[in-house]
Amino acid sequence: MARFIDELQRTHDCGALRATDIDRESVLFGWVANRRDHGSIIFIDLRDRSGITQIVFDPDLSNEAHELAEAIRGEWVIGIRGKVRSRGEQFSKKEGKLVSASNPNLPTGDIEVMVLEATIFNKADTPPFPIEARADTREEVRLEYRYLDLRREPLQQALLMRHKINQATRNYLSEQGCLELETPFLCKYTPGGARNFLVPSRLHAGKFYALAESPQLFKQLFMVAGYERYFQIVRCFRDEDLRVDRQPEFTQIDVEMSFVNQDDIFKLIEGLIFSIWNAALGLDLHTLYPDGTFPRLPFDEAMQLYGNDKPDLRFNLPHVDLTELVIQHDGGGIPFFQSIAAKFKDGSYRRDMPSEIVKALVIPASVNLSRADADKLEQLAKSMGAGGLARAKVAADGTWVQSPLAKSVSPELRSAINHAVGASENDLLLFQFGRTSLVHTVMANLRVAIAKRMSLIPEVGHGDQWKFCWVIDPPLFEYDEDKKTWAAAHHAFTRPHDEHLDLIASDPGKVQCYRYDLVLNGFEIGGGSIRLHDPDVQARVFAALGLDQAQAQEKFGFLLRALRFGAPPHGGIALGLDRICMLLRGTESIRDVIAFPKTQKGTDLMSDAPTAVAADQLAELRIAVVQGST
Ligand code: AMO
Repeated sequence: MARFIDELQRTHDCGALRATDIDRESVLFGWVANRRDHGSIIFIDLRDRSGITQIVFDPDLSNEAHELAEAIRGEWVIGIRGKVRSRGEQFSKKEGKLVSASNPNLPTGDIEVMVLEATIFNKADTPPFPIEARADTREEVRLEYRYLDLRREPLQQALLMRHKINQATRNYLSEQGCLELETPFLCKYTPGGARNFLVPSRLHAGKFYALAESPQLFKQLFMVAGYERYFQIVRCFRDEDLRVDRQPEFTQIDVEMSFVNQDDIFKLIEGLIFSIWNAALGLDLHTLYPDGTFPRLPFDEAMQLYGNDKPDLRFNLPHVDLTELVIQHDGGGIPFFQSIAAKFKDGSYRRDMPSEIVKALVIPASVNLSRADADKLEQLAKSMGAGGLARAKVAADGTWVQSPLAKSVSPELRSAINHAVGASENDLLLFQFGRTSLVHTVMANLRVAIAKRMSLIPEVGHGDQWKFCWVIDPPLFEYDEDKKTWAAAHHAFTRPHDEHLDLIASDPGKVQCYRYDLVLNGFEIGGGSIRLHDPDVQARVFAALGLDQAQAQEKFGFLLRALRFGAPPHGGIALGLDRICMLLRGTESIRDVIAFPKTQKGTDLMSDAPTAVAADQLAELRIAVVQGST
């Protein structure tokens, strides 16, 4: 062993050798991916993180090495010295002649290495699943043996891509004058935002730190401190319910800059995304976005057309808002519509803030949606809380058929709706009505489900389409129907549009702000805002939120104080690195691009975290666990 590590030393990675290396001597180290015993000759596919090389043990070349190879099994770690040769030709029974023995699926497929000398570095237990690119093994098993899973090519590729994203980010942002600075993970707990993980303090028993959900406050303090341009590739912690694109600890590319406006931030981030795509895929996004910028979509329009603020723009299928039509026609004979129309009879309907709406989506006749498919869509709608999914098929004369609405709808409303949605013969109309937020959510998900059914987008992955957009100008406040008060839609430190300052007191719902999300193929890959640094406007925003100075001080404490000591105008953004990597890799889940992820239930199956801890540890922290609470 020492001879291989100390004397011979590795000459090539397992993915390196090519036809140009024929006749070279090579020393390779790696794991036995595959072993085939052809009687006198043994073939092994030797793997390391760079690829696979076929090595050949021929007793005529080295009896000793061949004997060793007879004992070797899968995943053993070995070293070999050998000579590179062409794979030559072999007889093909199928073709009845000699054909090239090259393996076109392997970068090293033209060559093999004839072993002259070998060593076994270590044996291995039989792995619980085959280490192959395809993963038929249950994810739970793969997560339990993640170090074996990480030997598989898709995960190697994912981690390699993360490396490239990290490198491209560091290079680009430092070239742009951003300093890479660190911020604490152990922070003061502040209410609001995502739920925090709490960390007990031993030195201050009974007190807790919160794990940072993002470096937000600290990066703003860097601006107050005059550091002007900051970035950090930083781990964030959020105790949220997990989804395919959410992990309890995830990585942000976090940026903050002083003396900038929204356009400056967009320009910096567009450049960063271009660099990342170039590094990760070798793709120049200028081919898709020649002027180097991403389109901008106002928040209101996103909600109106797609029902959410992260629309997938790889396909169109817009929603059509029928609320005003329904009000004009007094519900047009349809009882559900009539009750909505009646609510707005007093003229209280507001296009910018409707409490209830009616929306439709058209499924073109060409889709030929079966009844069973339509029932599945209804199930989907119901699973999101909808009462059902009203539908109507449009006949040649414009009447509606196969629909419970067909009998009651007035001809006037029917033809107005047909016109508004642009319906043709055999199109299927889907309707949702009721509470605005629910209608938006249901219709947004239906839109995506229908696009998948129509093969407008693949079930998973990007289908080689990259549809970025900035969603801009959202409202600063949102109305809390339960508490009957205004709340900050995102956080209270977002700068309102200057021309809306007068509305803060008079009509808070109309105030738009400089908050932005970067959306890619239906995923929010980043979000940020221009911050509110002006104490006067700040006081007006707090007043609209029903907070006086003392309450604001209590809630936002040290940030408010810091902002009084010469805070420059500033703003920033954070990109979700894991989500970006997931999209770049076209994988199904964020777990596929994180080396050691948590399960959907927040557990680590490999180390078995979280676990109970010993009573004396708890006693030291003065913590009592309520039994039966898990
Ligand atoms: P925000 O909360 O929007 O903004 O987060 C920024 C981006 O981080 C990603 N992200 C997540 N990724 C994986 N798992 C999660 N649980 C998760 N949560 C968020 C998303 C999101 O767009 N401090 C602000 C940024 C700012 O204003 O500058 C912030 O954290 O891609």
